[in-house]
Amino acid sequence: MDMQRILLTCRAGFESDLAAEVQQRSLEHGVHGFVRARPDTGFVEFQGHDSDAGNQLLTRMPFSDWVFARQWLGVMAHWPQLDTRDRVTPVARLAGAEPRGFRELWLSFPDTNEGKSLSRLTRKLSRPLRQALAPQLQRPTSPWRLHLFFTSGSELWLGVTPVANGAPWVLGYPRLRMPTSAPSRSTLKLEEAWLQLIPDAGRPEWLQPFQRAVDLGAAPGGWTWQLVQRGLQVIAVDNGPMDPALMASGQVEHRREDAFTFRPRRPVDWLVCDMVEKPARVADLMARWLSRGWCRYAIFNLKLPMKRRWQALQEILPHVRQALDSAGLNHRLAVKQLYHDREEVTVLAAPDWRC
Ligand SMILES: C[S@@+](CC[C@H](N)C(=O)[O-])C[C@H]1O[C@@H](n2cnc3c(N)ncnc32)[C@H](O)[C@@H]1O
Repeated sequence: MDMQRILLTCRAGFESDLAAEVQQRSLEHGVHGFVRARPDTGFVEFQGHDSDAGNQLLTRMPFSDWVFARQWLGVMAHWPQLDTRDRVTPVARLAGAEPRGFRELWLSFPDTNEGKSLSRLTRKLSRPLRQALAPQLQRPTSPWRLHLFFTSGSELWLGVTPVANGAPWVLGYPRLRMPTSAPSRSTLKLEEAWLQLIPDAGRPEWLQPFQRAVDLGAAPGGWTWQLVQRGLQVIAVDNGPMDPALMASGQVEHRREDAFTFRPRRPVDWLVCDMVEKPARVADLMARWLSRGWCRYAIFNLKLPMKRRWQALQEILPHVRQALDSAGLNHRLAVKQLYHDREEVTVLAAPDWRC
C-alpha cells in the first residue's frame, strides 16, 4: 500500500510549530515534500514528492522523536465531501483492499472544539464500521491500525497508524484522572510525562521505591506527590508553602531555598523541575545537575515563547546536549509537548535507553 501523505495531530494553536518540525525532520530522513498547515485546526499534513513518501517517514522515523505531534497516520484516502448518507461503504471498499488487514479500528478527530463535537458521530459509526470491516479487523499480525480521522461530519481522512511506531493512545495521550489528594493539577503533567517519555520496559527499573529525588520549584507539591506515591524520598525546594497533607507522609523534606543555588549533599536518582523561568536558564541548570552527576534522571519543563517554539527549542536543547557530551555522558533527551502542558514542552534526560 503506497502512501504519499501523512497527517499528524497536535494541540490547536501549535500547527506552525509542528509544520516547522515536520519540514526539518522529513529532510533529515531524506524524505522530500511539503507541509500544509492551517491555524487552530489541530493537525498538519505532509505531502511527499514520491508515491511512497508517507511509508518512508512512517518506517524511518521513530514516532517517539516527535515533539509537537501527538499521533500520526499514513493517508490512504481523503474525502473532503463524503456522502453523509453512507460513510461506511467507501471506507469498507478501500480498507478491504489491504491484504494484511488491521490489528484494530481507530476513530478520531482533532483536539479542537469543533473536533470534540464529532465524538458522538465517531461513537455512532463505530459499530456499523466494525461490522462492515469484520473480515479485515482483529488480525493480530497486521502491522497497522486502521485509522479514520474526521475533521467534520463529511470530511474524512482514511489511513493507518503503525502499531509499533505510533502513540499507543488513539488521540495521542493517556486519559488521566485528577487524583483527589494531589495538591495541584500540575501533578498530571508528571504522570503523563512518565507514561509518554519513559519506555514501558524501563519504567519499573527507572522508578523504584526508596529512590531519592529533588523537586525544584515544588510548591504546592503536585509533582512531589507523584514521587511520594511511588515511594520515593523527596527534597522539595521552593520558597512557597508545601501541602501539609503531603508533608505528613514523612517522605518529603522541604527546603526554602533558591533552586538555582541549591546543591544536594549527595547525588540523587531523580531531578524534576517545573519552574516558570526562562527556558535557557532552566536548561543550563539541568545541564549542570546532569553533567556533575548530581542526578541520574531528570524531567523538566521548558516554557516556550508564544511563537516559533520549534526554532526556540533548536537553540536551547543543543546547550544541554553539549554539556552532557563534554561530561562524557551518553544521556539521551526525549522531548514532548504533552496534553497536560500548555506553552511548554517536557524533557526527559536519561542514560541512553536505546543502546
Ligand atoms: C508551576 S509552580 C510548580 C508547581 C508544582 N510542580 C506542582 O505540581 O504543584 C512553580 C514553582 O516554582 C517556584 N520557583 C520559581 N522560581 C524559583 C526559584 N528560583 N527557586 C525555587 N523555587 C522557585 C515558585 O515558587 C512556584 O511554586
